[in-house]
Amino acid sequence: MVNFYLRSVNNFQEILKRKTFSKEELIVLIRSKGEERIQLLKRSQEVKNREVGNKVYFRGLIEFSNICSKDCLYCGIRKGNEKVLRYHAKDEEILDACRFAWKNGFASVVLQSGELSTPAFVDRVDKLLKKIKQLSNNELGITLSCGEQTLETYKRWFESGAHRYLLRIESSNRELYYKIHPKNDDHSFEKRIEALGFLKEAGYQVGTGVMIGLPFQTYEDLANDLLFMKKLDIDMCGMGPYLEHEDTPLYQYRNMLMSKQERFNLALNMVAVLRLLMPDINIAAATALQAIDPAGREKALAVGANVIMPNLTPCEYREEYQLYENKPCLDEDAELCRNCLEARIELAGAEIGYNEWGDSRHFIKRMQTGK
Ligand code: 5AD
Ligand code: FES
Repeated sequence: MVNFYLRSVNNFQEILKRKTFSKEELIVLIRSKGEERIQLLKRSQEVKNREVGNKVYFRGLIEFSNICSKDCLYCGIRKGNEKVLRYHAKDEEILDACRFAWKNGFASVVLQSGELSTPAFVDRVDKLLKKIKQLSNNELGITLSCGEQTLETYKRWFESGAHRYLLRIESSNRELYYKIHPKNDDHSFEKRIEALGFLKEAGYQVGTGVMIGLPFQTYEDLANDLLFMKKLDIDMCGMGPYLEHEDTPLYQYRNMLMSKQERFNLALNMVAVLRLLMPDINIAAATALQAIDPAGREKALAVGANVIMPNLTPCEYREEYQLYENKPCLDEDAELCRNCLEARIELAGAEIGYNEWGDSRHFIKRMQTGK
């Protein structure tokens, strides 16, 4: 028994030292518990500090509209949820939040919304991008998270000043994808993959991610998700635990789920393993972690994440942007959020990269090698 234990620990140590991993090895890492898990988390922190440094970059998150044309089965703001009051934040409100970010040294903002692709929406985003660049002396970096669009739209937004884009694949397993999305043309797995290709073609730093602990999801799916990100050669990742929402169809499977704490631990393991697999990308500490553990995002920063997205959405709208239940910071204003973040990040031993874009090192290398 003791020998067996030693052999498995040694083997685990060997895996941790690798630079490339088989699917089976990834599964061993993702599933690790106890002493082995501590080793994994320690290793990912070392790799992070070596490859991208100890700095955490802020991206001020502005959820500027919850109007959505899609019906994803997990999402609280899906079109079919009639309980949600729909809003479009006013231009001035969005620009004020951007000004706040700029003046407070955040260096970047993320504009996120439900998915629309009407000409009016595309134009509106385009105009906002130009105004944000103008008000900040061209200094604010802008990430968009506005769903699937045409190549032409992505190119237009890029020209107008967006330089990063987040589009989560949600799950790289086609079968699972269709268990969590309606099976129709509006929710096509192939189109989502195509959109990720368009984003690269348009020149963005591309981010994707998945939900962790979904009903029907296996450890093999999660290992494949990581391999998918590696193959796509992404620059950024945001991934977090799946949280059931009462007003969504996927809620019916809540009895199949792991406990929230298990999903939380699994999400941290995924962040740590991704850091080993793709050492120089930017990894965001997902807000969904904080919905389970108040210090959830800081815990992710300690094991591999290096980006955090403080919520700058005007307070009056936050109640209506509940993708999942218990979404944190619903009643805090931006200033408060910033202060509590600062204190916690410093306690977590990291340094804040104020006034720095903190671009993905992976992207910078990709540009240098012309890939
Ligand atoms: N639980 C966790 N994450 C969710 N998202 C949407 N709904 C949920 C949920 N119920 C995530 C999706 C989406 C991102 C904006 O929020 O991954 O891409
Ligand atoms: Fe809005 Fe999926 S429900 S993007």
